[in-house]
Amino acid sequence: MLQANESKHPMVLHKLTILRDVATEPRKFRELVSEISALLTYEATRDLPTIEKEVETPMGKTVGGEMKDNIGLVPILRAGLGMVDGVWDLIPDAQVWHIGLYRDEKTLQPVQYYNKLPLDPTVGVCLVLDPMLATGGSAAATITILKDWGVKNIRYIGLLGAPEGIQHLNENHPDVPIYLGAIDERLNEIGYIVPGLGDAGDRQFGTG
Ligand code: PRP
Ligand code: URA
Repeated sequence: MLQANESKHPMVLHKLTILRDVATEPRKFRELVSEISALLTYEATRDLPTIEKEVETPMGKTVGGEMKDNIGLVPILRAGLGMVDGVWDLIPDAQVWHIGLYRDEKTLQPVQYYNKLPLDPTVGVCLVLDPMLATGGSAAATITILKDWGVKNIRYIGLLGAPEGIQHLNENHPDVPIYLGAIDERLNEIGYIVPGLGDAGDRQFGTG
């Protein structure tokens, strides 16, 4: 059975519906990618550990909490870039580490072209950001890179996922929870998500 968290939030459904619309222009598209990413991050981080922290209010002292681990956002270039600002609105101190992959159009295999991770990990938690989980090849390759870097707590956040991509991630990285705005029907013969939203990179950057 497929393991993925599909958002049930009405705001996510509402915004995704506008995002999918072929008539939605790049400016609005970018705005929605950012907003939906923030909503999904709220869901994906709800069980992150905190440590107690004393705080002095105008009325006296109390004990609150703060995030235990440094958080790293890992947008997969290009399309993941558009998710960063929305997530940063929630986690302004998050580090951002870019991984560049593109999908070979014929083989659908991910090809890496950018990775500037330092030798040792600087974060305890990584949120992998990519709008589209299609075959799952790009997400799985990125997660392998992060595990090799030494990060143990990794979560994947995407806007749309196909069953094929969820299955691929479940099989290759069963320890990595998947958070999606929606789980779509299938991939078509050229590896695009149906009904999907088309090419997430092209629609954000106006390059289609
Ligand atoms: C898209 C998308 C994912 C990948 C998903 O990127 O943003 O990274 O395809 O496909 P997969 O699950 O089959 O690997 P693309 O290769 O089009 O590059 P781009 O973001 O630069 O447009
Ligand atoms: N990448 C996209 O941008 N869209 C898809 O449907 C699949 C991969």
